[in-house]
Amino acid sequence: MFMKHIQERINTLVKEINSHNYNYYVLDNPSISDYEFDQLLAELIALENTHPEYVQANTPTQRVGGEISKTFPSAKHSSPMLSLGNTYTKSELQEFDTRVRNGIGDGEVEYVCELKFDGVAIALIYTEGKLTQAITRGDGVQGDVITNNIKTIGSIPLTIENDYPPLLEVRGEVILPHINFQKLNKERTDKGEAPFANPRNAASGSLKLQDSAEVAKRKLDAFIYSLNTDLPNLKTHYDSLQQLRKWKFKVDQHARLCKNIEEVIDFIDEWDEKRKHLPFDIDGIVLKVNSNEQQSQLGFTAKMPRWAIAYKFKAERVTSKLISIDYQVGRTGAVTPVANLEPVALAGTTVRRASLHNADIIKQLDIHYNDTLYVEKGGEIIPKIVDIDLSERDSNASAVEFITHCPECNTLLVRKEGEAAHYCPNTDHCPPQIKGRIEHFISRKAMNIDSLGEGKIEILVEQNLIHRIDDLYKLTYEDLIGIEKTHLINDKERIISFREKTVNNILNGIEQSKQIPFERVLFAIGIRHVGETSAKKIVSHFQHIDKLMQATFDELLKVEDVGEKIAESILSFFQNPNNQEIIKNLRLHGLQFSISQQDSSISNIFNGLRFVVSGSFETPQRRKEIEDLVEKNGGKLVSSISSKLSFVVAGENMGPAKEQKAQELGIPIISEHDFMKMIHNN
Ligand code: IVH
Repeated sequence: MFMKHIQERINTLVKEINSHNYNYYVLDNPSISDYEFDQLLAELIALENTHPEYVQANTPTQRVGGEISKTFPSAKHSSPMLSLGNTYTKSELQEFDTRVRNGIGDGEVEYVCELKFDGVAIALIYTEGKLTQAITRGDGVQGDVITNNIKTIGSIPLTIENDYPPLLEVRGEVILPHINFQKLNKERTDKGEAPFANPRNAASGSLKLQDSAEVAKRKLDAFIYSLNTDLPNLKTHYDSLQQLRKWKFKVDQHARLCKNIEEVIDFIDEWDEKRKHLPFDIDGIVLKVNSNEQQSQLGFTAKMPRWAIAYKFKAERVTSKLISIDYQVGRTGAVTPVANLEPVALAGTTVRRASLHNADIIKQLDIHYNDTLYVEKGGEIIPKIVDIDLSERDSNASAVEFITHCPECNTLLVRKEGEAAHYCPNTDHCPPQIKGRIEHFISRKAMNIDSLGEGKIEILVEQNLIHRIDDLYKLTYEDLIGIEKTHLINDKERIISFREKTVNNILNGIEQSKQIPFERVLFAIGIRHVGETSAKKIVSHFQHIDKLMQATFDELLKVEDVGEKIAESILSFFQNPNNQEIIKNLRLHGLQFSISQQDSSISNIFNGLRFVVSGSFETPQRRKEIEDLVEKNGGKLVSSISSKLSFVVAGENMGPAKEQKAQELGIPIISEHDFMKMIHNN
């Protein structure tokens, strides 16, 4: 063949194969036999091997996999991958509808109802129409880049043909259909390997495989449920779904536009029955406000959108006998009762333990020893005890009494007014509290000392090498080298030995943690009720640990998001002489306890100001950076244009409706350049 013909043949094969893939995986309507398809693919592979110069970017031959990923790099999401609020009853749905109506003022609300796929969330980024990055949800802010594994999923287009924006992000759910799940589990049990508990776990495990050829064999599938790029001509979520279909994504064909909440309830009733016949798992229905404008008006809470909610179908329920109750002590000293149950199969797993939460729940349920309990598994992983089968109660059974003393250190437990949990007040000497605090300190979102993972902390505490977080910074090579211990992790025995490489990694990790910024150090030291977000706000307000330690109750209350509970907790933390000494030592070791003067990007110049960041920026990461700068400098991010807004930071292609509204309200629309100038001129 002439070169030109080879190139043409490759182009034709790519087009044909893509089209057959689409018919097979997205439309579920194969256009040729498997044999004919394999022939076309084999021809393309052969031509690509002999003529690598003509291999197209994102050729369908990549779908068979073969790339090995030793590690998966992590990447930040362009906007957080949030979760959804859950409802279990129709009346909660009515309440959601009322909240939505109140939030948007006048006007009709339409909803789009979709199936809630029970799989693994994924973000897909297309640059110039080519799939360039696939990122897992991770912690919502950043996830793992698993592009090669995702490319093996036949229903995900590797290229988009028409009318695409230069940068496009879509989000959806990777699932494993029942038939492929059963096949996979059979193969595993035949080989003597443990089967996966359910299709969701199998999908999640498959996406983490290092060999993409193995992933290809699992035959995962994916539904795309949202467009995460602002496109001004799309006014509703339903329009976005149509556009996604035009781009050949697999979109829930059952998604329905509902005129009101009654129609939503009809949809739910219909699917409560029909879901049993689907070829994959769903765990509920998602309803979303259809109008993009109304979505912007409603905005988000810290964790979830106010314009969408999930209705979860009633969970499967089984009974099991209570064997005993364990009391677990966490890092804050809170005591959680956990029921040990006779093993029982429930929704694909064997349940042996279930949380009883606190003394109130035990009282409310009136649990007696030896009772037969109803156990349910909702969306959560940990099963819940929801009721008791009184007909099975022994006549001489006595009621469960909550313990009075700490099961670990025998200190008398206390219970603060207004709080449900009992606490062990022996903060400084109770072993699980000591261990828990250090584990929290080194965790990824805190000081991120990942060389000191699960097991090692326990050994170091047992060996009396550390009992407070500041002890970590005193550890030496000689202290650690040669320690060897057998340790139980997930019921499996593992030998942990501190050899030269391990010890050096640990010491390096500890040293590097001295550069971690103040806001994370504040979160890491583990003040009860001070989470990641409140730590950020506190740091941006006080800037220096001395100012924070001197702050009065009223001064603390001035910080956004700090209420009485957090303020009290901060005061009592810094009043404790033990904590004062820890802070003193950590400062001597060089940890960050103030906002660095060099870092001109942190200030409180935007205190009291509200920002909307809109349109697209050079990269999705850039948009996130701008949003971070708003918050780091004391500003607040909001999602809708209103008269309370201070600035709109506009990138390319800001929606015309937003622009017009901002202009009408006289809100300054500034460029990224103007925004950076505001920070640097400060
Ligand atoms: S919309 C802001 N639609 O459910 C969140 N999510 O709890 C927007 N999910 O992790 C999500 N099916 O992965 C949406 N049709 C659907 C969904 C869906 C499944 C998952 C999603 C997320 C979780 C939310």
